[in-house]
Amino acid sequence: MSTHPLLELKDIHKHYTSGSRTVKALRGLSFNVNSGDYLAICGPSGCGKSTLLGIMGLLDSFDSGSYLINGEDTTSLNDMRLTALRSKFFGFVFQSFNLIERMTALENVALPLYYQRVSKTDRTERANQALSAVGLSGRATHFPGQLSGGEMQRVAIARALITSPAVLLADEPTGNLDSKTGAQVVELFENLITENLCRAFVLITHDLQLAKRATRQITLADGKIVSDSGRI
Ligand SMILES: Nc1ncnc2c1ncn2[C@@H]1O[C@H](COP(=O)(O)OP(=O)(O)O)[C@@H](O)[C@H]1O
Ligand SMILES: [Mg+2]
Repeated sequence: MSTHPLLELKDIHKHYTSGSRTVKALRGLSFNVNSGDYLAICGPSGCGKSTLLGIMGLLDSFDSGSYLINGEDTTSLNDMRLTALRSKFFGFVFQSFNLIERMTALENVALPLYYQRVSKTDRTERANQALSAVGLSGRATHFPGQLSGGEMQRVAIARALITSPAVLLADEPTGNLDSKTGAQVVELFENLITENLCRAFVLITHDLQLAKRATRQITLADGKIVSDSGRI
């Protein structure tokens, strides 16, 4: 049994430079994510939500502070270890689905397993199971262009889950969906937690109604945490 928090962020700073302009995107963020957390990250556009998610998912680096995953300090890892940890530990869902247009739903879902060198037979079997878990068994041979927005996002969720990630990170996953379809997608996420398909779920949203459904809310403003309902 690990006694470490799943994720531990301490005093994370991150800036961007474009031309002569410097943007301080994150200005000293500290918080932990524990097993079982359903965390909503909220705040206005530009407050640093996507930057934070990119750092949490090891997609992006930071300037200073520390980030530990299961107690392991990520700053000491080389690119190869970071890539391996990212694909093992995290599943990603984005606003724009990011499906590959020339691949069927089944092939899209199976793709992460290809990179993990899983055999074709196993990939297909697991992708079929994942599609069925999101209620899309009947769409396996459809291409993204033949699916509705809600269906595309469910394919993306199946793809995110196929590697059995510990943590699912979703950046405005309902941003391109109407409110009814968005609510269905969030319900699907919620079922995944109750069924223990992932250990923590981090949902970035600027929709306060959706954020309220999470068990914990962190609100950012201008690169800082202004409230954290999980902090006593
Ligand atoms: N690649 C980048 N280059 C320069 N500035 C960036 C870049 N990405 C984000 N920013 C800036 O950093 C700040 C935080 O952006 P972001 O994390 O995308 O916020 P949010 O997701 O909350 O809208 C914004 O001011 C944004 O313009
Ligand atoms: Mg964003």
